[in-house]
Amino acid sequence: MQRMRYERSLEENILPKGLQIGPPIFEDPDLIREINQRILTTLIFINLGVLVFSGILGYFLAGKTLTPIKVMLDEQNRFITDASHELKTPLTSLKSAFEVYLRDTGRTKKDADVLVRESVDEVNKLQKLSENLLTLSQFQNNGYIHFETVKLKEILQAAIHRIKPIAMKNKISIKNNDTKLTVYGNKENLTELFVILLDNAIKYSPSNTLVTITTQKTDGKVKVSVSDQGFGISKKDLPSIFDRFFRADNARVKKGAGGYGLGLAIAQKIVRNHNGIINVASTVKGSTFSVTLPRK
Ligand SMILES: Nc1ncnc2c1ncn2[C@@H]1O[C@H](COP(=O)(O)OP(=O)(O)OP(=O)(O)O)[C@@H](O)[C@H]1O
Ligand SMILES: [Mg+2]
Repeated sequence: MQRMRYERSLEENILPKGLQIGPPIFEDPDLIREINQRILTTLIFINLGVLVFSGILGYFLAGKTLTPIKVMLDEQNRFITDASHELKTPLTSLKSAFEVYLRDTGRTKKDADVLVRESVDEVNKLQKLSENLLTLSQFQNNGYIHFETVKLKEILQAAIHRIKPIAMKNKISIKNNDTKLTVYGNKENLTELFVILLDNAIKYSPSNTLVTITTQKTDGKVKVSVSDQGFGISKKDLPSIFDRFFRADNARVKKGAGGYGLGLAIAQKIVRNHNGIINVASTVKGSTFSVTLPRK
């Protein structure tokens, strides 16, 4: 409005009729104040807009960045809770056994022997549990692992050598075919992987059965399968067997065979660290765990 007033006054008072008006000369203080006011208001709105937009964007980006950290923390908390729970159970049972023994006034040396023998078993289990927990956390840390080209035959022979006493105790034979194939990976970790698979194949099979290891070359990869003639895994349990602390509730499993449900979780971590794939197929006649590993 001010501008129009200004232009009109120019036309009426200064310029001769018919002359074109050039760019206005802002000398009217009211007009200048109004223009300043408008610029200020516009700038405030623009700044507010930028502020709100960057706030929303920041919130969105922070959420995106923090999500993996939150997942990791949740995972760690779950791990600590599960581990504490698993450690608490055998410790409580040991403590109760000692207390009962101490309360018994007529205790004999024979009672003491029985208690010590049972306690040693529990302590052995606890030792195995803490070792497995350490192994699992070590693989979870994804630290530096030395990779090299290794002969598959050496890995499988080392694993069989370690598992042989358990196989003999359970009267289970292991059949392994001779292979010249090589894999690219860490020798100790891969041996540990096949010990876990062989241990399960033996633990979850009846006596006088056979565990078979087969190796196969596919394009650029090597597939190793461990098959047993055991109890099998039910369809409902199959999706959970690689979860930490998961144990199938199987009445047919030999007494004392159950572990802590950490073996396959460790196996999966090893396979993933090697950019490999682990699969399982199972029927009531037995299970086959197949591992595909890169050759280079
Ligand atoms: N070859 C198999 N045959 C039948 N069931 C199996 C076999 N391998 C694994 N399972 C099932 O999967 C579950 C998880 O196996 P995993 O090796 O992780 O734990 P675990 O053997 O119970 O204990 P851990 O290995 O820690 O001593 C087992 O409890 C068992 O029910
Ligand atoms: Mg196991």
